[in-house]
Amino acid sequence: MTGTLVEVDDLKVHFPIRRGVVLDRTIGYVYAVDGVDLAIRRGETYGLVGESGCGKSTLGRAMLKLTPPTAGRVVFDGIDLSTMRGERLRTMRRRMQMVFQDPMSSLDPRQSVESLLVEGMRAHGLDTGREATTKRLRSLLSSVGLPSTSLRRYPHEFSGGQRQRIGIARALTVEPELIVADEPVSALDVSVQAQVINLLEDLQREFGLTYLVIAHDLAVVRHICDRVGVMYLGGLVEETTSDQLYAEPLHPYTRALLSAVPVPDPVLEDRRERVLLTGDLPSPANPPSGCRFHTRCPWRQQQRCDTERPVLREIAPGHRAACHFAEDIRAGRIHPHEVRAELVEQGGEGMRVDDPLAGPASITEALGP
Ligand SMILES: Nc1ncnc2c1ncn2[C@@H]1O[C@H](COP(=O)(O)OP(=O)(O)O)[C@@H](O)[C@H]1O
Ligand code: SF4
Ligand SMILES: [Mg+2]
Repeated sequence: MTGTLVEVDDLKVHFPIRRGVVLDRTIGYVYAVDGVDLAIRRGETYGLVGESGCGKSTLGRAMLKLTPPTAGRVVFDGIDLSTMRGERLRTMRRRMQMVFQDPMSSLDPRQSVESLLVEGMRAHGLDTGREATTKRLRSLLSSVGLPSTSLRRYPHEFSGGQRQRIGIARALTVEPELIVADEPVSALDVSVQAQVINLLEDLQREFGLTYLVIAHDLAVVRHICDRVGVMYLGGLVEETTSDQLYAEPLHPYTRALLSAVPVPDPVLEDRRERVLLTGDLPSPANPPSGCRFHTRCPWRQQQRCDTERPVLREIAPGHRAACHFAEDIRAGRIHPHEVRAELVEQGGEGMRVDDPLAGPASITEALGP
C-alpha cells in the first residue's frame, strides 16, 4: 500500500498567447507550469501553496490530464498518463477526482443532489441498480455529514459548507484513490473551514485517500498536510514536511511567506524574523531570467541569481529548495539586504512593502513618467 502514487517529471504547461482574429498568431506563452518534479506518496496529504497565479491549479489539472501538458510526464500508480487516450484514459480518471473551490459553480443548479451524485457512478458503470445505488449514496452522505433527505434537494437549498460536502461526496462516488482539492475551503467562512478540513481528514482515514490540497492559505496547509510544496512563478521552490517547513524554511520566498503569518505568542511575535517582499509578482508570460525570485529576493547575490536557474535540490534530508545560496543563508553566512534600515533613517516613514529593494529597474522608471 505504501510507495509513490503519483509522480510528476519535469512537467510543463505553456498556454499560447494569440493575437489577431484572422492570422491567429502566437505571440508568446504563459509559462503557467514550467518544469515541476514531485512525487506524492500513497495515503499522504501533499499541500501546494503559493500566490495567486503561480500555477497551482494548472499543475493540479495537468496532473489529472484535464489540461494537456506541454512537456513532461505524469505517472499514476506506475502508468504514464501521457500514453493514455480515449477509453483507457477515461477509465483511469475514475481513480483521480477533483474537488473545486466554489461548489456552486461546479454543481449544476438544475440537478438534484441525487442526480449530481449518480452522474459519475453511471459514467463509470458503478450504478448497478436503484436499490444498491440509493443505499450507497445514503451512506456517502452520512460520511460527509449530510442527512439522506438531501438527495431530493437542489444545490441552492444548501449553505456554502454543505455544498462543499456535496462536492466532496460527488468526488467520492466513483471510489477514487487520489483527490485533488483546489482551494477546498477558500470560499467558506472561517468557522466552516475547520469543519470541512476535519471532514477531509476523516474521509482520508475512512477511504484510504491520497490528497493533493491546493491552498494559498498557509494555515490550512499546515494543519492538514504531511508534506508541502511551495510554488513560485510556475516552479517549485521548496518542498519538505509541513513541520519542517514551518520550523526552518530554507528558501527566501518561503521565509517571506511565513514571516507574514502572525504568531499568537506575543514574545515570539516580537522576536520573529520579518522578511518583506518587494515589488509585484512578475508575469508568468515574461518570467525573470535565472532564479525567478531574484527580482524580489532580499538575499539576492551579484553572481548567478539573475543568470542561472537554480534546481530543486536536497539541502537537508527530505528537504529540497531551489536556491543557489540555500546553505549560506541557512548557516547565516549571507544576510538579507540592509536597504530597509537605510530607508527608515532617510525617510523616517519606514519601509513600505512595495519599496523596491534592488532599486529601479530602468532609467525610465527612476525618472518617472
Ligand atoms: N486556460 C488558460 N489559458 C491561458 N492562460 C491560463 C489558463 N489557465 C491559467 N492561465 C494562466 O496561467 C497562470 C497560472 O494560473 P493558475 O494555475 O490558475 O494559478 P493559481 O491556481 O496558482 O492561481 C496565470 O497567469 C493564468 O492567468
Ligand atoms: S538563487 Fe538568489 S535570488 Fe534566488 S532565492 Fe536564492 S538568493 Fe534569492
Ligand atoms: Mg487556482
